[in-house]
Amino acid sequence: MLSSIILVNILVFFSLNHVCGARISPTDSSRIVNDHRAFFVFGDSLVDNGNNNFLVTTARADSPPYGIDSLSHRPTGRFSNGRNIPDLIGEQIGVDPLLPYLDPELDGKKLLKGANFASAGIGILNDTGFQFVNIIRMPYQLAFFETYQKRVAALIGTEKTKKLVNEALVLITCGGNDFVNNYYLVRYSLRSFQYRLPAYVQLLTTEYEKILMRLYNLGARNVLVTATGPLGCAPSVIALRSRNGECATELQRAADLFNPQVTAMIWLLNKKLGSDVFISVEAHHIFYDFITKPKAFGFDMTNKACCGQGPYNGLGLCTALSNLCPDRAKYVYWDGYHPTERANRLVVQEIFNGTKYMKPMILSTLLSMKA
Ligand SMILES: *[C@@H]1O[C@H](CO)[C@@H](O)[C@H](O)[C@H]1NC(C)=O
Ligand SMILES: *[C@@H]1O[C@H](CO)[C@@H](O)[C@H](O)[C@H]1NC(C)=O
Repeated sequence: MLSSIILVNILVFFSLNHVCGARISPTDSSRIVNDHRAFFVFGDSLVDNGNNNFLVTTARADSPPYGIDSLSHRPTGRFSNGRNIPDLIGEQIGVDPLLPYLDPELDGKKLLKGANFASAGIGILNDTGFQFVNIIRMPYQLAFFETYQKRVAALIGTEKTKKLVNEALVLITCGGNDFVNNYYLVRYSLRSFQYRLPAYVQLLTTEYEKILMRLYNLGARNVLVTATGPLGCAPSVIALRSRNGECATELQRAADLFNPQVTAMIWLLNKKLGSDVFISVEAHHIFYDFITKPKAFGFDMTNKACCGQGPYNGLGLCTALSNLCPDRAKYVYWDGYHPTERANRLVVQEIFNGTKYMKPMILSTLLSMKA
């Protein structure tokens, strides 16, 4: 833990040194600011675009066959065979794939398009993912966002920076690791001694609310919030906890408890703020539909990972030595835990235009209201 704190502090310092980096002229900058909405991403491996490649950690997706169906056919740090949810949302709003915040390429004008602060392995709680050592936990992702704003202010001034952040689209995805890489990581985890499941779920919801309020206080006004998928249905969980390949009961119970509480918390938060700042993306239901009605979505395989080994291809990491399915588009899960590009694409369709799982509104409505 200590070494992780030190490394992250070094990184904060490193980024602060960038504050006085490249400058651009004022006319140039106003055109860029008005051109496109910026996009910011926070959270875990479901949305990490490669920050962990810059860290000393085992939570990374930087070797083949990750990225096999991307344009370059090479791994980038995204935990999928191709594009992930941030890439596909970006595609719809006209933002090129975001750079990871730790990428040295992210400097000068490129900062104005936004940044991805997500880091695989993190959770809502600071002790989640402790086994990955150096990952950017939520308080540090938010600290980087603050540093980011200082760097942008040095380019375009404080007022325009504030406007850029207020108008930006923000996506935050976390919570899954607080179960799979914390509470249920081992049979008798510290957290499971401390809390019964309902109390743990309540703790997570309260802490998630604090993170969302911090985002609000940092200027975010259009925030898509997702919590977990159907945790019990991930091939890695099925491999360890299911008898006949059905979704594992205990982790489904956790997801069934937690996700509605997040939606309810968001509803109250918006009420308190007097504005629909936060939108709940009920990813848990979206994915559960893929699993229970695969044919309706063109999937053939729902409980087996495309890349992996062991039962349901769900054990261990996805590596060059793993079994790899030929037809990725037929699978919901790419590896033991993360969706295929095809599943991500269907989720993004629901986010923009869905009919059931976006509370209080779909993203197309939000974007047209705040055009
Ligand atoms: C997590 O760590 C941050 C920064 O060290 C601290 O401010 C925060 O209170 C911690 N959160 C919890 C829930 O312990
Ligand atoms: C949402 O619907 C609009 C209008 O029909 C369409 O242009 C757009 O491509 C859709 N977006 C997604 C992500 O499916």
